[in-house]
Amino acid sequence: MFDIRRFGGVIYGADYNPEQWPREVWAEDVRLMNEAGVNLVSLGIFSWAQLERAEGDFDFGWLDEVMDLLHAGGVDVNLATATASPPPWFSLKYPDSRPVTVDGVRLEVGGRQGYCPGHPALREGVARLTRAVATRYAGHPALKLWHINNEYGCHIDQCFCEHCARRFRAWLEARYVTVAALNDAWGTAFWSQRYTDWAEIQPPRRAPTYANPTQQLDWRRFSSDNILELHTLERGILTEVTPDVPATTNFLGFLPGLDYFRWAQEEDVVSLDAYPDPGQPDSHLEAGMVFDLTRSLGGGNRWILMEQATSAVNWRTRNAPKAPGQMRMLNHLALAKGASGIMFFQWRASKAGAEKFHSGLVQHVGPQRSRVWREVTDFGAELRGLTPLLDARVPARVAVMFDWHNWWALNIDSKPGVLPLLPLLGRWYAALRTLGQNVDFVAPGSDLEGYDVVVLPNLYLMDDATGADLRAFTERGGHLIAGYFTGVVDSREHVHLGGYGGPLRDVLGLWVEEWDVLLPGQTNTVTLNGQTVTVTDWCDVLHLDGAEAVATYGERFYAGQAAVTRRATGQGQAWYVGTELPADTLRNVLRSVLDGAGVPHTDLPVTLDLSVSQLPDGSQILHLLSADPQVTQRVQIPAGGHFFPARPGGDEVGTQVDLAPFSVTLIHYPGPVDVSGVKVGGAAATRVTASADLPGA
Ligand code: GLA
Ligand code: ZN
Repeated sequence: MFDIRRFGGVIYGADYNPEQWPREVWAEDVRLMNEAGVNLVSLGIFSWAQLERAEGDFDFGWLDEVMDLLHAGGVDVNLATATASPPPWFSLKYPDSRPVTVDGVRLEVGGRQGYCPGHPALREGVARLTRAVATRYAGHPALKLWHINNEYGCHIDQCFCEHCARRFRAWLEARYVTVAALNDAWGTAFWSQRYTDWAEIQPPRRAPTYANPTQQLDWRRFSSDNILELHTLERGILTEVTPDVPATTNFLGFLPGLDYFRWAQEEDVVSLDAYPDPGQPDSHLEAGMVFDLTRSLGGGNRWILMEQATSAVNWRTRNAPKAPGQMRMLNHLALAKGASGIMFFQWRASKAGAEKFHSGLVQHVGPQRSRVWREVTDFGAELRGLTPLLDARVPARVAVMFDWHNWWALNIDSKPGVLPLLPLLGRWYAALRTLGQNVDFVAPGSDLEGYDVVVLPNLYLMDDATGADLRAFTERGGHLIAGYFTGVVDSREHVHLGGYGGPLRDVLGLWVEEWDVLLPGQTNTVTLNGQTVTVTDWCDVLHLDGAEAVATYGERFYAGQAAVTRRATGQGQAWYVGTELPADTLRNVLRSVLDGAGVPHTDLPVTLDLSVSQLPDGSQILHLLSADPQVTQRVQIPAGGHFFPARPGGDEVGTQVDLAPFSVTLIHYPGPVDVSGVKVGGAAATRVTASADLPGA
């Protein structure tokens, strides 16, 4: 359904909000879009109030004009269904369509996304507007893609109102069929919570103390589905009216509220909004993790970076700009990770409103005086040479298992300790990436064929079926590594009895008896390969049952017991990391896992980002990106590569490249790239000023 060829090259563009500007500006916009190489804009995302003046009273005049103008200027349109924010008249006419918080507060008019996803009039209004927009522009030559709503669940990922409560009950009835089954699943024998009728069941609104954990977990599942229903309502209308136009809604990466593995099944192409903090030295890792997730959600297919900032955002406490070159570097990272489109929020920085200090392609200073504009136009020109990347895949031998249900369960209160999943995931991801690995994300139940290594930084919630899949994976020769507090509960959040690790106990060859949750400032030590390191936060107290100890604890009541283990499983191996290891130690363990699995690796500083993509003819591209803001890095590379795209007048690379701060070098090899041949250092100059990969050099 999604054919990138409709766009005539790599997609390049932005959210375009002409309703914020007088008509005179529109023609200039189109001219500047051409100057920048923009070929697609997302139009009308927040235009509901401009399009439907009163219920059923539509005004499409201005949008007709903009659509025609863009088409005449050769710019295609990713047209929004405009449903992202109902107008004030709507929210006032249907006051109970405003969302309700966990504390029972009904939110006021005046921000955005101010709707209850389950409200009947809201759903009717969304359907009416979607149908009107789709019917109006079906067949318009500029229309190439549908942009459904905007960032579902960004502000409101759950609504605790009566409408949603009714839907929750129906959802539960479909899941459990009888109240008795629900009582069993929720463990309501505890604290006198037993229900006798569906009507008694409420959303987990603010209660005197912890609400029932399984109620909270099911509520999260329901809330993701509740919003998804709204999405599929729009999706269905679009498919009916314009069956040939692909549709997407912009995802937010690791958004807590929506199970994107489920959602992605509804997308023709997966798209992403990503705003890594450019002020952080590892913002490329933060971005890379989200890019890898996005590609994985789409089954490895190419995806669209729908929104990002050209420079600063306005919604952090302190909003760092992107330094010169940093935007290009992060865009190259997206391309290396499978993006087929690079878009921004927003075309023209607003003059008024809550986002006036958010960067745009056209900054307040105007295009001619802006370094951001120069970078935007340079990159637009560069992209034309990168069209062959649209056919590339991102081959990964390592998969990280991630599950929204696990994330929800972990976030529920009343745990042994606090275990923030994303930072934990980030530490494992950083270790794998600095070992030179491409990484895929997989949900439980995914096909693991084709991976050599599966990594579970944490999978607290694990069903027997997942345990069985992982057992089969290791028996086939796969290498598995799991982190602490894994395999503790099933999908109802009931504890696996008989030793934690539950469904993985036999694969790992161990059982966990208890946890030593360390208080702030408390530590333990772990000795691994003769080296003793300090560990913090969490220590599983575990017992071997078939596994060997790779590392042991040095202190506290379980001193001498295993902290890291390994077990041979047929052809494969199963590893367990029972504590929060320092970054270098975790990397060493992962290196051993890769060695065991025969996966080549290297050792890179955080400042050098390495990815590999593969073209249909089996040739590969090595993407080297510098995340260093100051120092030129000398990088040794395998011989036999050529610069990509080809450079006029000789493009053999040799065995060494210098990467200036935030610069990018792509090298094309006739076959597989051996990443173990990529090393930083050697007789390297720091602060080299002229670099082969600088534009124009
Ligand atoms: C999101 C939204 C945009 C805008 C940007 C600001 O991505 O979709 O409308 O608010 O954030 O960063
Ligand atoms: Zn509601």
